[in-house]
Amino acid sequence: MLLFFGMARVIGVFSGKGGVGKTTTTVNLGATLSYEFNQNVTVVDTNTSSSCLALHLGLHFSPLTINSALKGESDVEDIIEIHGSNMKVIPASLRLSDSFIDHSRLPQIIEQISKISDIILLDTAPSIGAETIWSLKCCDEAIIVTNPDLPSVIEALKMIKLSREYDVHVLGVVVNKYSKNNSLSLSEIYKICNVPIISLIPEDKNVPKSISAKIPITHYKPFSKSSIAFKKLAADLINAEYKQDLFSAIRSKLGF
Ligand SMILES: Nc1ncnc2c1ncn2[C@@H]1O[C@H](COP(=O)(O)OP(=O)(O)OP(=O)(O)O)[C@@H](O)[C@H]1O
Ligand SMILES: [Mg+2]
Repeated sequence: MLLFFGMARVIGVFSGKGGVGKTTTTVNLGATLSYEFNQNVTVVDTNTSSSCLALHLGLHFSPLTINSALKGESDVEDIIEIHGSNMKVIPASLRLSDSFIDHSRLPQIIEQISKISDIILLDTAPSIGAETIWSLKCCDEAIIVTNPDLPSVIEALKMIKLSREYDVHVLGVVVNKYSKNNSLSLSEIYKICNVPIISLIPEDKNVPKSISAKIPITHYKPFSKSSIAFKKLAADLINAEYKQDLFSAIRSKLGF
């Protein structure tokens, strides 16, 4: 359901099941759209119960977070951090005492951000609770992240249905941690979800390393297979073309 009428596209990254790669997807799409495609992007942590966007980006010492704006204690412009990729980031607090917070001010916050962004990416909470519903209420479009296994695909299907109940357009499913040992094939995932599979992100040992380094994989290992997949997805989101030059293709093939 669209509650505001700003200029920005508001895209929520949802999954239902936890730990499938929502934050990784949000961070890498945001960094690529900003850095490689020169888009004015803001990524927002709307997962206040188990927030970790800030940790992925080394912004966990931010004094002000979305929590203070949700409580009405801070203005939106005061809680924005600028990442090295040039994307704007609104982190959430990591404190246990900040975990249970009312999200009813979220639409107002997103409306403010939409005045200063072209694309807003929401890194949402796992499971279908109030946090997820408030994020849905703020979105125009949804990306559903899943892993190639039945438990996460079933949760993805629930998220697809829920998104439609809130009139949020489902752009498609991102199958993350894709490997040779998938328990579900792509055609099985498609048969269950019945929406386009818009990206396959391979299982990549560099992803956990990039999170430890607090750098998006698209910057940490720009030519790794997962980075290339994230860049292609970012390009698709804005109808641009991701062109890999010969040398980066060779580096990618060699696993750099
Ligand atoms: N393509 C990948 N290859 C290997 N590991 C990955 C990949 N994507 C994510 N991971 C790992 O999966 C874990 C969960 O990723 P992430 O935090 O992005 O998931 P999430 O859906 O945001 O989790 P939560 O539901 O807790 O918010 C991380 O430890 C990360 O290193
Ligand atoms: Mg997350």
